[in-house]
Amino acid sequence: MKLVIVILFLVCSLCDAQVNYYDHIQPIIQSHCISCHAEGKIGPMALDSYENVSAFAGMIKFVTDANIMPPWRASQDKIVLSVSKYLSSEEKRAIKTWIDEGLIEGKEDSIASIRNSRDTILSLSTDMEVIDSLDYKTAVLKVDQPFTHEGDYKMHQRVFVIPTNLDKDVYVSKVEFISSNSKIVLGCDVSVDTTSLGRKYDAMDPRSGYANVIGVGFRPTIMNWYSWSPDDVQISFDGFKVLPANSDLLLYVMYAPSAKRQLDQSQIILTYSDVPSSELEIISEVLIDSSSLSRPFFIAKNGVQNVRAEYEFMEDVEIYAIKPHGQLICESWEILLLEVNGNSKILLEVNDWQFKWQRKFRFTHPVEVKKGSRIIAKARYDNTSENIDIPILPTKDVQYGEGLSQELFLISFDYTQIK
Ligand code: HEC
Repeated sequence: MKLVIVILFLVCSLCDAQVNYYDHIQPIIQSHCISCHAEGKIGPMALDSYENVSAFAGMIKFVTDANIMPPWRASQDKIVLSVSKYLSSEEKRAIKTWIDEGLIEGKEDSIASIRNSRDTILSLSTDMEVIDSLDYKTAVLKVDQPFTHEGDYKMHQRVFVIPTNLDKDVYVSKVEFISSNSKIVLGCDVSVDTTSLGRKYDAMDPRSGYANVIGVGFRPTIMNWYSWSPDDVQISFDGFKVLPANSDLLLYVMYAPSAKRQLDQSQIILTYSDVPSSELEIISEVLIDSSSLSRPFFIAKNGVQNVRAEYEFMEDVEIYAIKPHGQLICESWEILLLEVNGNSKILLEVNDWQFKWQRKFRFTHPVEVKKGSRIIAKARYDNTSENIDIPILPTKDVQYGEGLSQELFLISFDYTQIK
């Protein structure tokens, strides 16, 4: 027994001693960091080589250990369903060991790097085949004027209105967001509007798009129809989303602070057909908001408030994604599924909500929900001076709304109805 322990100990200290960049660290950086930390991307430095990663070693150890980076805000432990960008404790330990042991470089595996680039090409060509084999059309919709970020060190939120000019409903199987300047775009949320209210707001603002801190300024026909984050995994779905005739796409784009004057002109690429390609319609809908609350929403100054809501499903559904909306004083979210048989599942837990890193959380497998199951959603708001995200002190009473000094409690879902 003793011998076994000694051998195990030896083996483990050996593998620890061998942590090197090419075998252990590069794969972690590739899957968790490079989507943002590459040339021309939102991250302030490129982490694309041994030299660059080593140069920021101290900072990387700090931000990964403190869960600041990657900026994925959902906790990992209890949620098995979600596409997680979290670093596992093994991955964090590998980073720490690598740095503590003096940044061992190791040998670059040229076969592995060839294999990686081939994978990318292969996955692209499969996408193309799907498009060719069915009667799909592609529309490239571009924001008409570039938006200028003045380089004033501030975050900017802008809503761009793009008319689709479609004279009938279409069935969209793929949506892509492409920014012309990924150095400053923190995220984009696309809503669908058939009321022309977006156009009215746009006409009142002389610059490209219109300014609005949160959302599009009103409840659009379809909210959170599509959401993009810099590190999104594009999960292709067999289903489709309906885009109603004559609708406008409203692109709510969040820009990071910048010290330099910069331009951006975003585009949306839609792949659609005139007839539904499958049975599976993915519906994007707000299922929980202030009307789901048992008490009126109000957060007193200097107060900490828990808010809770319930929603009961009246039919069998499958949930693909959820997007909670809170603002600056919102601190955490817990979204549970309470099944008819009494079991409960945590769909999402965010312990350090940050407005800037809001996103649509997609599940790797749709979550099956039987009729009569309920969603229990809880959020916590910290309106005390302890909360470093509060922009102006002293704190004030906070009402429900989309203004910067108001707060939201709203969750949209992507789901399909099971017939
Ligand atoms: C979704 C995009 C994104 C991902 C993924 C991401 N980062 Fe970042 N990172 C940023 C942005 C943006 C900043 C600038 C600071 C900020 O906005 O919070 C940043 C800042 C940093 C900093 C500097 C911290 C500072 O104090 O300025 C380090 C170091 C860092 N990231 C390392 C990493 C590492 C390591 C990973 C992967 C484990 C990672 N990041 C993943 C976007 C990202």
